[in-house]
Amino acid sequence: MLVLGIESSAHTFGVGIVENGKILANEKEMYKIGNKGIIPAKVAEFHARSARRVIERAIAHAGVSLRDISGIGYTRGPGIGTCLQIGMLSAKTLAYRLGVPIVPVNHAVAHIEIAKHFSNMKDPLAVYVSGGNSQILKLENQHYAVLGETFDIGIGNMLDNFARAAGLNPAWGSTVAKLALRGKFVEMPYTVKGMDFTFTGLLTYATKQIGKVPIEDLCYSLQEVAFSMLCEAAERALMLTKSKEICVCGGVAQSDRLRQMLALMAKEHGARLGYAPNEYNADNGAMIAYVAGEALSKGYSVPIDKVDIEQRYRIEKAKV
Ligand code: FE2
Repeated sequence: MLVLGIESSAHTFGVGIVENGKILANEKEMYKIGNKGIIPAKVAEFHARSARRVIERAIAHAGVSLRDISGIGYTRGPGIGTCLQIGMLSAKTLAYRLGVPIVPVNHAVAHIEIAKHFSNMKDPLAVYVSGGNSQILKLENQHYAVLGETFDIGIGNMLDNFARAAGLNPAWGSTVAKLALRGKFVEMPYTVKGMDFTFTGLLTYATKQIGKVPIEDLCYSLQEVAFSMLCEAAERALMLTKSKEICVCGGVAQSDRLRQMLALMAKEHGARLGYAPNEYNADNGAMIAYVAGEALSKGYSVPIDKVDIEQRYRIEKAKV
């Protein structure tokens, strides 16, 4: 079964092609975020312009013909409404023209499932860390249960916001990570409540120190404190679930330092850490095609006139 998946929940328009679990193509175009962050209408315009080009590139890269596609997947949510609409309409049009079934996919489920696929894990504790989300999850009766999560903003947005406030270029978490390599530790607020955590207090504090403390020290300490909070919450969840596998996924799972800290924690509990290659931790269409392919192989799809988007599509509501 040859499945084409479309991801468009935020700044990336991604198209993946998967054949029976094997990824044949993973093409994307990314809207460049300026100092004002994401402007939903502008990103949607970008996606609308990118859609046809990225789809054609994925088809060419996979070495298949559009007529060979036997199913379509798209991101139903969570994400930015205007961006999700473009992906959904592209997917719906393709499914209608090709006369093939269509599958709505939960973005968070896709991040976890692709990490499980690459890590060869069946039932791990999942640490999902991205721009808008930070959650610790475990599969229970075909639904992911959220054991812990951020009470305010996602860790990725926290790092990006700090990078923008500090005037870093590019204003992303990866620039924070680069500067952190030369920093030393300064105290910062640390907030974990059970398996939940918050990042805005830490962000406010770090932002107020800009110009007073060397930027390298701020970057290093911000990362160390935020990642330690995640590790503490994940460790509690690991002990509760007695899981022997942890998979970290989402855009922030590209962080070498976070992986290092989680791997150390996992090792102390005789557990293994897994993750996908970076290309598949960032938002991508292949993870959507992969999950849609799994669903289609079990006979699941939705009638074409029932496809929709849900900006706040909670992961607990998605059947896996
Ligand atoms: Fe994502």
